[in-house]
Amino acid sequence: MRQAGRYLPEYRAIRAKHDFLTMCKTPELASEVTVQPIDIIGPDAAILFSDILVIPEAMGMKLDVIESKGPVFDDPIRKASDIDKLQSTDIVERLDYVIQAVRMTKEKLAGRVPLIGFSGSPWTLAAYMVEGQGSKNFDVIKSFIYTEPDVAHRLLQMLADAAVEYLNAKIAAGCDAVQIFDTWASLLSPSDFEEFSLKYIRYICDRLETNGAPVIVFAKGVGSHEALADLKCDVLGVDWTKDLGKVRQQTGGQKALQGNLDPTVLFAPKEKIRNEVERVLQSYGDGAGHVFNLGHGILPKTPVENTKYLVECVKEVSAKYRDEAKAA
Ligand code: CP3
Repeated sequence: MRQAGRYLPEYRAIRAKHDFLTMCKTPELASEVTVQPIDIIGPDAAILFSDILVIPEAMGMKLDVIESKGPVFDDPIRKASDIDKLQSTDIVERLDYVIQAVRMTKEKLAGRVPLIGFSGSPWTLAAYMVEGQGSKNFDVIKSFIYTEPDVAHRLLQMLADAAVEYLNAKIAAGCDAVQIFDTWASLLSPSDFEEFSLKYIRYICDRLETNGAPVIVFAKGVGSHEALADLKCDVLGVDWTKDLGKVRQQTGGQKALQGNLDPTVLFAPKEKIRNEVERVLQSYGDGAGHVFNLGHGILPKTPVENTKYLVECVKEVSAKYRDEAKAA
């Protein structure tokens, strides 16, 4: 998550010359910064440099990604007629630059590591489209779903259809796995989560033409993973506030789990990083089905040295769990 984030000087050097959206829209640049962390940090997979908000942008919403503020839509969705203006057809054609970036990245990776493509969940995309930007309480999107549930569902369905098309095109272009980010699952009560988010994630998972590519669903801050256990996906992402062993129990071992080191541990001394790697691996326990990852995106000021150290630690320490998994 955010491997190519602002913490890498090599990323910042390119970013200094181009705005964020130009980088997303230029396959040469997007593929270059996708591959950077593979050479510098050495993780086992690459995640395509792009953003979840390219879908609303392709639907016609003007997007700015402002340094220190994050993404901003000038003209957020507030009523039914705003949804009518969105261009929801031919989404893949309008996002062809992402598909080209997938192809170019696959060439640059030359089989070294698999490539992960992604989409935002309909709920998380709608949250940004209606709020217009990140928010403390997300009261605008929350009041929108409560006062105009039918309009909200129309928007969510439109986004779900776009995500299916988009993720299928990414898999067809060469992505080896796809991840659905529901960053703002945490805003919803369990029943609202089912109605306004999970329903649409399920819709997407049911319609992916995976051709064997694993599907990862990351619902950040979800109360319990039990509700996600029967999704047609292979992996559930887990944030760092959860215990992997408990989530493994909740899901009855039906899904592989991905996570869940607290990203701020990367600011800690090396000894703490190592201890936390041990703790995360232990919390999952023996056997296959754990993908080590951070519990959310890497933060902008993260020391590169510590990130390299993390990857080394995981490779070294996880070996004994892999051996146990083989023996099991
Ligand atoms: O890991 C990677 O580098 C892959 C590319 C990636 C980005 N965004 C690049 C990016 C991915 C997978 C995303 C997903 C994304 N984007 C999510 C879901 C995951 C999550 O973090 O919860 C969300 C909610 C967004 C929306 C978004 N885009 C936000 C909130 C921000 C601001 C981030 C910040 O740290 O302030 C962005 C901008 C963004 N997307 C950057 C990058 C590398 C920083 C842009 C810059 O260089 O200024």
